[in-house]
Amino acid sequence: VAQELGSRVLEQHERLFLVPDGTICHFAQNIWLEAEEFSFASISQAVKHLRERQRNWWLHSVGAHRRAQLIQEQLPPLKPKPLSFPPAPLPSAPMGSWTLLSEGRMLFSARCSSPFADGEPQFAENKVDPPSRAYLKLWEFFTLAQKWPGAGEKVLDLGSSPGGWTWVLDRLGADVLSVDKAPLSEQTKFSARVRYLDESAFALKPKEKVDWLFSDIICYPDRLFELVERWREWARNMVCTIKFQGPTDLAAIEKFLTIPGSSVRHLAVNKHELTWARLAP
Ligand SMILES: C[S@@+](CC[C@H](N)C(=O)[O-])C[C@H]1O[C@@H](n2cnc3c(N)ncnc32)[C@H](O)[C@@H]1O
Repeated sequence: VAQELGSRVLEQHERLFLVPDGTICHFAQNIWLEAEEFSFASISQAVKHLRERQRNWWLHSVGAHRRAQLIQEQLPPLKPKPLSFPPAPLPSAPMGSWTLLSEGRMLFSARCSSPFADGEPQFAENKVDPPSRAYLKLWEFFTLAQKWPGAGEKVLDLGSSPGGWTWVLDRLGADVLSVDKAPLSEQTKFSARVRYLDESAFALKPKEKVDWLFSDIICYPDRLFELVERWREWARNMVCTIKFQGPTDLAAIEKFLTIPGSSVRHLAVNKHELTWARLAP
């Protein structure tokens, strides 16, 4: 985040960056869209100020922690149920965020880019069946997009080993061609709809249209871009992880975004990577 924002950072409080209005940051987990300051003398005044706006307030504490906690305790409790999959609709009630910049100075935003606290959806994880935690990337992506492959759709999963994404796609009922030079986990049960191809994904030539193309291949962004270009006309929907090594290749992000209808986001489970997607309207 710090690298992407560069000199646009006005103030930084741990993971909270204050930047000019309208600043774009692809790595941000949650953007406080309407940040306001409020100075107050008492805890009850602070509580009243937030309660009058709306019900849900998430404390992103960066300072004056004890006082902030005393305020949060007097706000309506947040008890989100762990999310299930396939996804339920996104929460409709706005989740505001707030923090104390000092004992008597609050920063808050009633509107945030994510409906989840700190932009981190919490799933009821499956710690038994999937062969890797990477399955959470697709659970999160599909939940945020509110779109996922349906039964019988043709799907390519490139760079699929050990099979976390393939496991998700299989459970959705898709017909999956799972491609990697490394094998799928033998401990995981896949249905007969999953076919595995022991090949480099870059050697694969488009021959017929697919409904979805996924890539979680470890490779340089430029290599992934070439692959996306090759498949663009052949895949109705594309979801790819752009992986970075060392300093983030910011120019590569812009290059991906030149593809019409595409977007990038940093999923809460993404590490030094972004998820690029182009979904059919
Ligand atoms: C992060 S892992 C994928 C995890 C997977 N999505 C899952 O859910 O389990 C990246 C994979 O990219 C694969 N990979 C690297 N180069 C590749 C290539 N040229 N073709 C296909 N797969 C490749 C690696 O073998 C590795 O299994």
